[in-house]
Amino acid sequence: MVEEVSARPVDVGLPAVIVCTTCRSEQGERGAVLAESLQREIARQCLGESVRVVAVDCLNACGEPVSLALTGEGQASYVFNHLEPTNDVADVVSTVKAWLDADRGFIEDASACGRLRFCLTARIPFV
Ligand code: FES
Repeated sequence: MVEEVSARPVDVGLPAVIVCTTCRSEQGERGAVLAESLQREIARQCLGESVRVVAVDCLNACGEPVSLALTGEGQASYVFNHLEPTNDVADVVSTVKAWLDADRGFIEDASACGRLRFCLTARIPFV
């Protein structure tokens, strides 16, 4: 089940894939579709004990849907935009795996990230 968070900080815990579920287009609620698809794929790949999917109302990048962030305690954070809710699920999960495996979440080799290499808006280092 996708956690829902609105206007409050995400609880410290498992690393999180934060998905804006209010990102939408003429095709509808694309962010919500991405969040649900990610949750299913993370469960299918048995990653649910390593990372969680968190739904938020907005990541303040509304002009570049769908927006998604990776964040976790002691790890670099990443922000991605222009994600496709169905076509990018595999690349998001591959990116999540690379992020979880990387020292302090700092992905050195992004070759596994597929199209997400071109959707990265920000990488925030661990401090
Ligand atoms: S509606 Fe998705 S970032 Fe604002």
